[in-house]
Amino acid sequence: MEQLVVAIDGPSGSGKSSVSREAARRLGAAYLDTGAMYRAVTWHCLDAGTDLHDAAAVAAAVRAADLFISTDPDSEEVLIHGTDVTRTIREPFVSEAVSAVATNLAAREELVRRQRALIAGHARIVAEGRDITTVVAPEAQARILLTASEEARLRRRGLQLGGGQSGEDLHRQVVARDAKDSTVTNFTTASDGVVTLDSSDLDFEQTVQAVLRVVAGAGGGA
Ligand code: DC
Repeated sequence: MEQLVVAIDGPSGSGKSSVSREAARRLGAAYLDTGAMYRAVTWHCLDAGTDLHDAAAVAAAVRAADLFISTDPDSEEVLIHGTDVTRTIREPFVSEAVSAVATNLAAREELVRRQRALIAGHARIVAEGRDITTVVAPEAQARILLTASEEARLRRRGLQLGGGQSGEDLHRQVVARDAKDSTVTNFTTASDGVVTLDSSDLDFEQTVQAVLRVVAGAGGGA
């Protein structure tokens, strides 16, 4: 049977992770959150006292990282050097530091290599991030750029963070992170053959259905 790879890219707050995880469940596929890998190695560098501005040191730390990420959509688990960082990597101090790793080309090269190996190890997998449709798995059967208006993304992030942060703070953070991230990955415009799905006016279920329709249209079904 031919392998099924579904590649999904998009900015933060597009609902990419939860939609991709649910699509994987319904497709009976594995799920790879590549952002969690960037976050885990960032946490490790912070924990080990690696200077995030020292590109060579960061790259060396990433190459040596003993990183485990669960690809079971029903079990979110990220371990680095045996430490369970599943929750910690979602903390603001990691989000604020992660661009130092995401903009390090040698670190990216190593993580892309590992992501390709993880994808190759599964018969069916949904992988999501910023460069999956273009760099990690450009040969995927279904490639989707999941977008949402800035307003919708802010609204969702506000909900994700429990609404405790002021709108202005959130706006600043989301815009600043996307600006930094887009210096190395282009996830705002779809490259050739990539389907753009704007989820601004769709709820969660409608977005999952839209993703599944793209997959079915590409010949991969549940
Ligand atoms: O999707 P996320 O917020 O968990 O991603 C964390 C960071 O990693 C974010 O700054 C973008 C970066 N990233 C990346 O550069 N390439 C990927 N394939 C996935 C994430």
